[in-house]
Amino acid sequence: MSCASKSQLALTGGAATVTLGHSPWPVTGEQEVRWMEEVVRSGVWSWMGQHERAFCEEFAEFIGAKYALGASNGTVTIQTALQAVGVRPGDEVIVPGLTWVATMQAAIDIGANVVLVDIDPETFCIDPAAAEAAITERTSAIIPVHIFGCMADMDGIMDVAGRHGLKVVEDTAHQHGSRWRDQGAGSIGDAGSFSFQQSKVLTSGEGGAITCNDEEVYRTAFAIKHVGWAPPTETEGLTAAGLYGHNYRMTEMQAVLLRGGLSRIVEQTRIREENAARLSEGLARIGGPLRVARRDERITRQAYYAVTMHFDPEQAEGLTRAQYAAALAAEGMGIGNPYEPLHRHPLLGLYHETSPVPYRDAAAVQNYANLHLPNVEQICDETGMVLMHRVLLSEPELMDEMVTAVDKVNGKLGEVREHFAAQEAAGS
Ligand SMILES: Cc1ncc(COP(=O)(O)O)c(C=O)c1O
Repeated sequence: MSCASKSQLALTGGAATVTLGHSPWPVTGEQEVRWMEEVVRSGVWSWMGQHERAFCEEFAEFIGAKYALGASNGTVTIQTALQAVGVRPGDEVIVPGLTWVATMQAAIDIGANVVLVDIDPETFCIDPAAAEAAITERTSAIIPVHIFGCMADMDGIMDVAGRHGLKVVEDTAHQHGSRWRDQGAGSIGDAGSFSFQQSKVLTSGEGGAITCNDEEVYRTAFAIKHVGWAPPTETEGLTAAGLYGHNYRMTEMQAVLLRGGLSRIVEQTRIREENAARLSEGLARIGGPLRVARRDERITRQAYYAVTMHFDPEQAEGLTRAQYAAALAAEGMGIGNPYEPLHRHPLLGLYHETSPVPYRDAAAVQNYANLHLPNVEQICDETGMVLMHRVLLSEPELMDEMVTAVDKVNGKLGEVREHFAAQEAAGS
């Protein structure tokens, strides 16, 4: 490849800057393969086998919570956690307007009314002041979501919750092992909810966990996810807990994969943190429209589901986020957008017509169609970007190549603009 083609934008036929591949995901080891074979041969495949028990202990220790409970996914864990901390039908639950739709659905599906609030424009996480402003006499809980590569301001959230007597359920689906002032995400509020779905940094394909420090919350959560049974003791098997529950259980095969993943996660997190810092510093050095979100100094360990990034259209000389991302993608650097704003999610419009349990009083629910959450909308529509975690497990040189790719595009913003103008003129 000639020097000329390397300096030409890949978008217009030049060579891509990023040549190093990403590390594969998910990562597995021989230990899981051996355990899985043993489990298959043992015939103990359902709940509370030796691997699920061991995983729950190991995960609780990793998070720094007294209890951890395995479950079938990271949506039922939010439902279970909310119910276990005392949220009841008709209560209002405060949720950030930017999260995966499951956070909201979990609350809706236990009969709560979800009140969406705005986010901190730097971290994309719930804004404690916006949460406080949304409190009414019906509010019973707040769900801070530690989203992508930042943690919610847990000092602010715990302060608001404490002053108003509210419960806090942390949606920790994106942050397995993050720490706020050395306290594990998922152990700070009244309960934590984790997802182990395929894309997550700890995964069993599907799966979830609830963490908590209070015995009553643990016993209630156990009964809800385990068809109404109380946790077994050494002397007694399962006894009825006197609570309506479901089957939200984890299998032994999921637990095997999770134990394997857990044995690698501390080292993987260290690599991700180093690479995220390298990328962040590199982008700060070159300047321009793209930067990594500031890391709050109260975060003592950051688990990166993704790198949270900001695109500044003003510095991009009129390029849209999509055009800038297309130029980077051609260079070999794929960056995505955050989720859609929750108040615009198509599932919301389907609830009253098609949910099997349409018990909600529509008049008591926030009017999502008329809602305006300025920070959520700006981040989702124009300025927010996310780089997924598998990139961060790769060689540090990949970060340098990505910085070079961004620098190349930044130096040729006019050419990118001309390229898209020509495409538009040609009607493509
Ligand atoms: C923030 C957040 N909460 C909850 C969930 C739900 O987890 P699951 O897909 O395991 O049900 C997800 C899944 O991606 C998520 O990203």
